[in-house]
Amino acid sequence: MKRRVYIETYGCQMNVADSEVVLGILSQNGYVLTSEAEKADLILVNTCSVRDHAEQRVLSRLGELRRVKKQNPGTLVGILGCMAERLRSRLLHDHSIVDFVVGPDEYRKLPQLIEQASEGERGIAVRLSRVETYDDIVPLRTDGISAWIAVMRGCDKFCSFCIVPFTRGRERSRGLESIIREVEMLSAQGFKEVTLLGQNVNSYRDGDHDFADLLAAVASVDSSMRIRFMTSHPQDLSPKLIETIAARKNICKYVHLPVQSGSNRILQLMNRTYTREDCLRIVNMIRSIIPGVGLSTDVIAGFPTETEFDHQMTLELLQEVRFDGAFMFKYSPREGTPAYRMGDDVPDEKKVQRLNEIIAVQKQISLEINRTLIGTTEEILVEGASKRSAAYLTGRTDANKVVVFPRGDEKIGQYIQVTVRAATSATLLGERLAEPSSQHQLRVHDSQNAI
Ligand code: SAH
Ligand code: SF4
Ligand code: F3S
Repeated sequence: MKRRVYIETYGCQMNVADSEVVLGILSQNGYVLTSEAEKADLILVNTCSVRDHAEQRVLSRLGELRRVKKQNPGTLVGILGCMAERLRSRLLHDHSIVDFVVGPDEYRKLPQLIEQASEGERGIAVRLSRVETYDDIVPLRTDGISAWIAVMRGCDKFCSFCIVPFTRGRERSRGLESIIREVEMLSAQGFKEVTLLGQNVNSYRDGDHDFADLLAAVASVDSSMRIRFMTSHPQDLSPKLIETIAARKNICKYVHLPVQSGSNRILQLMNRTYTREDCLRIVNMIRSIIPGVGLSTDVIAGFPTETEFDHQMTLELLQEVRFDGAFMFKYSPREGTPAYRMGDDVPDEKKVQRLNEIIAVQKQISLEINRTLIGTTEEILVEGASKRSAAYLTGRTDANKVVVFPRGDEKIGQYIQVTVRAATSATLLGERLAEPSSQHQLRVHDSQNAI
């Protein structure tokens, strides 16, 4: 009988993509996926170290999995991802339920480590690679509509607060040809959206080809497939890339541009290599070349030495730029990073207060922007049932706005036109237009691929 693997994924989309690579490797080795930990022969937890909170969640989950393992003592438990890389043998030492620990560049060793673990030998593989891109592994995808592809791995930026360069190793790109082959395969399988992933996709390079070349090549594979990407470090965002997004209809008009802070002093301490003036200039460039573009960002509150003045500069930058949305975090010191040595001198209550102020300002801006969309008609890709109610479906616009609308006879993977009727800071409420009026929609009606 085939062995059953259960996998839980924390952290960023890169981890989601990695879990699919891991399942690809395991399915080649006789495993099938199960959605119930209790029924698994192998439990994998793909972990994140970016903030302490992310690690605490995994550690408390390990406590729960201990009960599962007590009931099924034969079940093996493996820790993958960034915590595996950061904590290494400490995980084996501190958590008796853990049978093996595998870092992000060692997933090819999984079958071997599982084999050893089943013979009672607790193993560890955490070497980082300068070349591993898993380009020959076919990921096991379960979604059917949206696919992630890691086009580069690692990060060389060393922002002073960030653990990623230590858990993911040096930057390396996957070959353009192999990425195109994968996108062609996804198109043939009926996928409707591909997101190209990297900690800093703008550093992508394959010979003479940069990220803009890759994006253009990927977009040419199938014009009915939406192409997205993340993340862009502001320093490397080239006019060529912006022009490529503007020129191709199926490259989504959306850029995630993490600014982190609005204070030049803090940006320098963060080693972010740009100023708030650079940010404003880049945002203006993007908006002038791509009208209607969706822009989002990441912000950190309470970085070491951050003063009330620095914090006000962040609020002002958010007000000046007016991003469509933001991911906002409280600074979390990570051992081994340069910022860790700067101390953690902003008291927690201050961090919470500043974070709440940032959230309130951004929420109001997002609400105001979303309200301007009421009455407009948008094309969305139908992605699935709304989390809140089965009577509603959900999809996203080109600019990455989430739209929910009353369920009719729409199929997942179909492009439809909706008119926006109401808006919150996070979601648009839409109503489907009866008449098919887009090329996309006509194509999907004719297609056997729509599920
Ligand atoms: N490569 C991406 C970011 C990856 S981490 C980029 O450079 O944009 C995602 C986000 O987590 C970061 O943008 C940052 O806002 C946040 N983050 C990273 N380290 C953090 C820390 N130590 N404390 C709080 N937030 C952090
Ligand atoms: Fe971390 Fe900076 Fe690299 Fe992003 S660019 S992963 S924040 S070091
Ligand atoms: Fe977390 Fe690692 Fe991603 S630290 S954010 S899972 S690269």
